[in-house]
Formats: sequence, structure tokens, C-alpha cells
Amino acid sequence: MIRFENNVFLLSNDRLSYMMRVGEYGELQHIHFGGITYFEDASELSVKPGLGWGINSNFDEKLSLQYWPLEWSGSGRGDYRETPLELGEGMPTFFRYKSHLIHKGNVPFECSLPGAHGAEETLEIILEDNKKIGLHLFYSLYDTAVVRRAVLVNNTDKDINIRKIASSQMDLNGKFDMITFNGAWSKEMHMETVPVGRTGVMIESTTGNSSAFHNPGFILKRKNTTETDGVCYGFNLVYSGNHYERAQLSSEGLTRVIQGISPNNFSWTLKPGEKFETPEAVLSWSDKGLNGLSHNFHHFVTENIVPPYWKDRERPILFNSWEGCTFNFTERKLLSLAKEAKELGCEMFVLDDGWFGERNNSRAGLGDYNVNLKKLPNGLKGLSEKIRKMDLKFGLWFEPEAVNPNSDLYRAHPEWALGYQDDMNVLGRHEYLLDLEKQEVQDYIVENVAGIIDDNEIDYVKWDMNRNSIALGAKAHRCILGVYSVMRRIFGPRPQVLLENCASGGNRFDLGMLCFAPQTWGSDDTDPIERLDIQRGYSYLYPLSTVGAHVSMAPHAQTLRQTPLSTRGNVAFFGLLGYELDLAELSQVDKFEIKEQIEFYKTYRKVFQFGEYSRLYCENGISMQVAYGDTVIAGLFHKLINAAPDYEFLYPTGLKRNAFYTIVSRAQLLRVGDYGSLLKNVIPVSVRPDGLIVRLANRMYKMKENTEKWEASGSAIVSGLPLAQLYAGMGYSEELRMEGDFLSNIYVISMKEENE
Ligand code: DGJ
Repeated sequence: MIRFENNVFLLSNDRLSYMMRVGEYGELQHIHFGGITYFEDASELSVKPGLGWGINSNFDEKLSLQYWPLEWSGSGRGDYRETPLELGEGMPTFFRYKSHLIHKGNVPFECSLPGAHGAEETLEIILEDNKKIGLHLFYSLYDTAVVRRAVLVNNTDKDINIRKIASSQMDLNGKFDMITFNGAWSKEMHMETVPVGRTGVMIESTTGNSSAFHNPGFILKRKNTTETDGVCYGFNLVYSGNHYERAQLSSEGLTRVIQGISPNNFSWTLKPGEKFETPEAVLSWSDKGLNGLSHNFHHFVTENIVPPYWKDRERPILFNSWEGCTFNFTERKLLSLAKEAKELGCEMFVLDDGWFGERNNSRAGLGDYNVNLKKLPNGLKGLSEKIRKMDLKFGLWFEPEAVNPNSDLYRAHPEWALGYQDDMNVLGRHEYLLDLEKQEVQDYIVENVAGIIDDNEIDYVKWDMNRNSIALGAKAHRCILGVYSVMRRIFGPRPQVLLENCASGGNRFDLGMLCFAPQTWGSDDTDPIERLDIQRGYSYLYPLSTVGAHVSMAPHAQTLRQTPLSTRGNVAFFGLLGYELDLAELSQVDKFEIKEQIEFYKTYRKVFQFGEYSRLYCENGISMQVAYGDTVIAGLFHKLINAAPDYEFLYPTGLKRNAFYTIVSRAQLLRVGDYGSLLKNVIPVSVRPDGLIVRLANRMYKMKENTEKWEASGSAIVSGLPLAQLYAGMGYSEELRMEGDFLSNIYVISMKEENE
């Protein structure tokens, strides 16, 4: 509900509230963002600057803007903190409240930017500067988030140059630590925590995409906030281009937070009568620790960001051709993979890169849409029909935003490549980006991609984008608007096509893309041990139903690490399970194990894809759970194991104190050969670790790990379930978990009965 009384705006629901006041001089003050508040709290919650702090620049006898928590600060009027807006060559601005409107539902963008959906009301506060520049601040309240954006309107009769414009600025009380999610190709979302001091902490992307370098999402938490307790604020941006976020502690002890498009090289001319719309900034709050904040974000993304058609639709288990085949395949090879994938339980076959033009490596073919008939003599139609006859869905890879110089498209239209006019292009993965600002480029992509989807009844599209842009500032913004426009035209009328966004993995894992694509390929790194950190990073901001996670071949292409198939499966369960490997290279027993993994995932698919995800306390590894209805599934993962390991405990959360639960560990298979000469302690006959018997056993047989089972009350379990002792160098026993490096376990916790 949004109300306005005695100059105070209050947006509130049963979890969150946001409060602002129009000050004596028309300045918009921030009062509160957090748990429930009432109008009566307004004066109690406002800061009290008293006699101030010595030198200051008073805007008026009484008011120094520097001291106040503001919703939007101007420039050159005595607030020396960072400004959200820079105009011209240093144009002073100060925006005063003029009027406001309360709209039903969301207020749609006039440009192609995507936005959250499902708000009941939106508040539009209209402010104006003394030069008649209009600033409209929009606020929508959702169950678990507030979404803000700013629109600048040129009501003057002269051009205005915008050099910087944020989506949101707010000043929070007190001090915070900032959690950011940083990385690069193949190592996305690595979490870093730093104190926000007077020098501030800044994240930015200038690569034309939201980037794997710095995800636009971040968290501010109090020093004493943990995963389970304490206050924290979460921030994200519904945008896939260059972004900028900064938190800085002011000299008076308020923390200013700015989020928006990156000002790097930005310059935009706003003609009289025109407006500039900024992307939406998402703000959430929790007093239940970081897990509480993640639950808020997960709910918001599911309910208010991903396309409604896919909100709670189960996602298919897919088989993707990339890591197994790369560019080298024939129709025969694909069909034999599809047949085996089907037998193992997969539900969709995805043909990745390499199906068109002269695409035999990454140096040619991008931009062309003619099917490579040498590889697929019956065309896409022939292939897709045969795959559908196997009762599999069919998905296809595209990289529509790029062009190889060695392509028919580039030979016909070199001027469509970004940078061509200035002779300033730069190759990345042997490709140029297309200039998506150009209408003819947009039309070309829409026609070709939509045509192929329709002609071949494609169920799923993987939309890839494999390089950083050379477009700067405003041009980069125009290009991303072009991308959104194209996506809206293709997928708007085809909501049933499952779109998976990908940009060399998670180079564009952001809320902007999620408005079109309900899922994103999490990383090109499919090593499960690496994925533990990557997927944990995503879990702070994005629900499991958005993160593509596949089982691949070990040793892994990215790290040369050898990992157990069980752990590859267990990690991918905590995401959207898929398989991406050459099934012909697998042993019978590996295939059997995969079949069991898929059966297990199918049984608990709803829990994994739509359950409430929490990171768990864990002394010796990494642990997490998903909870859906009366079922909880927890995972416990190890990286490197120590000798003489401590007892291990599992610490599930959120169980009903007065209920009884059954807890069963999933029976896993262990590879015989991994035990080397220790095998003699396990089996009665003596075998050579590298001998024929062991090699044969590796292909035909795996040892079934003993399952563990408990029955206990919810109140008892939360204090820690004692797990079987890990192997401790003392020989084999059925009571041990014979697990070394990189092994993991999955526990299914089901409610048996609930007492009054
Ligand atoms: C990068 C993606 O992240 C991979 O999954 C694969 O689709 C390749 N591109 C194909 O070129």
C-alpha cells in the first residue's frame, strides 16, 4: 500500500516498508527502509543533525544538504557526497518536490528496457529543478523488494547533456560491510566482503555487458550479521549493460548507496521535450541474516522477474552437445547421443554451436543461418523430427549478436559490425559484435531466429554471446536496448519457448536477461569443485531455478581436475540439471550411475528447482539445503580432506520443532579403482591396482556406499546430525564413509509426523 500524509510517503506491506519525507525546501529525504513502520514513526526515525559539524555549506540558513539522508542529491548545493546526476559541463541541480501520482500496477517503460512485473501500485514523485528540468522518481513495492528508477525530463528549450544518471540513490543509517560477487570467464560470482569506509567501495562494468567481472548485485550487511541472523540490505539492477554501484560512508556516518548505468564515457543529449529512462534498481532488506535476504531475492526473481509462463513450470533435464562434441558432429553422432541420453532419462536434446554456415571452429560462420548440410544432410528439420520421435524435446544454440569476418553476412554487410565506420573494431573470439542499435540488424536477427524456431518447432533456445563489447557509454546503452528489443520481438509472442541465456557462461547473469530468459548458463566451468563456489555466489541473489548446471567429463576441461561422478551429479542437482559429455566415452557403470542420478532428480525436481534454498552452517566443507513442503534435501560437499578428520555433523535449518523426520543419505556409487592398493583391505583376494581385474571392475562395477538413516525430531536435528566417521586411515569398515577428496553426500529429510 502507498500513502501520503503530512508530507510523508509510506510504502508498506506485511514485511517491508519504505518511508520518505518532503522537507521544508522541497528536498526529498529518506527516512526508513526495512521492517514495518507507521506514519507516527517518521519523526522518531529521522536523523537529528543538531548544530551540525563545523564547516558546511548551507543551502539556506538552516539546511545543509550534506547532513540529511536523501532520496536524490543534486550537484553544487552543499551536498559533497557522490551525486547520482551530472549534467553539462558542471551544471548545478537541486530538485524540489512538485507533485506525485499513485498508479495502479506497474508503469511501463517507453524505451525497450525490461522491468519487474506484478506490482499493485507505483508511486511517481515528480520533482523539478529551477531550470525546469523534471525528475520523476518511480517506486513500486513488491512482496519482498522495492524497485526504484529515475526518469529525467527536459522541460527546457535547450539540449541537456547527461554525463551520469543513476537509477537510485539512498542514504542508510550507520556502517556496513559490502559483499560483492566478482570473477572472470569460468570463475564467476566469487564473493568478497569489505568494510565500507569513508573511501567507499565501488563495482563497475565497462564491457558492454553486466559482466562476470562484477555482478551488479551486492549486499550491505552489519558487522554482526551472519547467514542466519542480523540486518542486511540487498541491491540489484534490472539491466545487462555497463553498470556502476558504489557505497560510501559519509563524514557524518551515513552510507550513501548509488546504483545505475556506468558513467564511464557516458554522454547523452536530451533534446527539449525528451526523457531519459534509467533501468530499475532493486532493493531488499532482511533482519534474518543473509539467508533471509536470499529468500527475499529468490521470491522476487521468481514472482516478479522471470516470464510468468515459466514462473513455476518444471524445467526439463537436458543433454547438451557442446562439451562432448564441440564443433565436430554428424547427424548420426547426434542421433546416437540423443538415443542414449533418452535411455538415461534426459528429456531434451540441445544442439549447441556448429550447426550453420562454415562453422567448424570459432573462426567462421557466425552471422549466417544456413544449415551446414555436410554435418546435417537432412537439415534442422530432419534432425529435430527424429529427435522428437524419440520423445525428446529439441533445443538449439544461437549467437545472434555476433559475426565472424569469415561469414556471408560480413561479406555482404561489413558496415553492420560495431566499430566498422571508425575502423576501430577489435576481434574477440574471432568475432565482431553486430551494431544492435541499427534497425536493419535487429530485423535480420528477428527474422532469422524466429523463422528457425517456427520452422522447426524448437522448444528451447540457448542464446549465447561470447565477447565483450567495444561500444562505449551511450552507444553501449543503445546496443543493449537493441538486444532487449530483439528479445522481446522474438520471445514475446513465443512464451512457451524456454530461453536459456548464456554469455560465455555467466557474463550476463543479471535481472535484465532474466526478464526474458528464465534460466542462465551459470558458467563454462563445469568442474563441480569450482562450481561449489560459483553456484554459492549465485545463491545469494538468484534462485536455483535460474542456474543451469551440467555434469561433464572428468578430468575437467577447465581445470584438469579429476572428480567423482557422484559429486558432479550432487553439485548439478543444486541447479537445473543437465548433461554435457560424450556418452560414448562412458563405461556401462557410469551410465548406470547417471540413470540413477536422473531418477533421483526427477523424484525431487520440485524441491530442487522451486524449494527454498539456504546455505547451511558447516565445519568441514560446504553445505546447503532446499526445502519444499515437508521435504528438505541437504548436501554436504568436501574439497580437500585432512588426515584424521573430525566428526562431521549436518545442520539442517527450518525444521518444525514438534515434528518427527526420517533422514536418509542417498546411496552413492564409489569407483573401485580410486582405492588403489588399499583394495586389498576391502576384498579377500589380492589384486594389482593397475591390473586387468581392477580396470575391468572400473568399467563394470562400482561399490555401493552404505546409506545412513536416522529418525529424529526437528528440535533435535537442528543441533546437528552426527554423520558416519569419514575414512581416517585405519582400514575399511562398513560403518565408515570411505570418502576422500571431492566426495559429497546428499540427505533426504522427510517429515514423518507432526505432533500437536
Ligand atoms: C560459450 C558457451 O558458454 C558454451 O556453453 C558453448 O555454448 C560455447 N560458447 C559455444 O561456442
